[in-house]
Amino acid sequence: MAAYGSGSLISFEGIEGCGKSTQIILLAKRLRAAQKEVVISREPGATPLGAKLRALLLDPAYSPDALTELLLYLADRREHRRQVIAPALQRGALVLVDRYVDSTWVYQGFARDEVEPSLIEKLNRLVVGDDWPKLTFVLDCPAPVGLGRARERNRETGVEGVADRFEQRHLDFHESVRQGFLVLAKVEKERFRVIDADREIETIHDDIWREFSLKYAIN
Ligand code: TYD
Repeated sequence: MAAYGSGSLISFEGIEGCGKSTQIILLAKRLRAAQKEVVISREPGATPLGAKLRALLLDPAYSPDALTELLLYLADRREHRRQVIAPALQRGALVLVDRYVDSTWVYQGFARDEVEPSLIEKLNRLVVGDDWPKLTFVLDCPAPVGLGRARERNRETGVEGVADRFEQRHLDFHESVRQGFLVLAKVEKERFRVIDADREIETIHDDIWREFSLKYAIN
């Protein structure tokens, strides 16, 4: 059982448009109502360096080779860990992060299939050390559902037609990303919780809250 009183890192993973950010906000609200310090963060782009790397990484006009792409995500993570995650955990906060080590394993390793996933595992460990997630929610939904939502979000925020570099990829890439997260979840059952994200927001939140409460022994 994980300790709720001290700091803990919880990551949210899944394909584009699976609803991670909505669910992070709902969980944070509930925890804050219980007087818990919660830090919400995301990758890439949570630090000043990260913001620059994010702009580059998501730019449709930029196409780095697989190793360069991997190293840029890792640089973003290293800075994120040093500036945001480690200090928050030391204060005893709960850190809810939108994408983390598993996204790299899945996107740059499993789905892109150009860098050995075992190398990514080693580099991730080097970059984050002990700040590994205690609990990881995979919000699982079919690729067309997630991409449909991502497009909807772009329309609502006025960026219709300017899908980022990842959103532009083919459906089978996103299906492979989905499968990658499911593979990880099967291997590391203790850490992962796969949540069906093709449902109502509140229903998904209820499942997340139930799993969170079980893990941290909250009544
Ligand atoms: P973002 O707009 O934050 O997408 P989402 O809302 O789906 O999280 O874009 C982040 C993109 O970066 C997303 O397509 C996944 C990709 N990514 C990687 O390829 N590797 C990584 O290590 C991380 C953290 C993200």
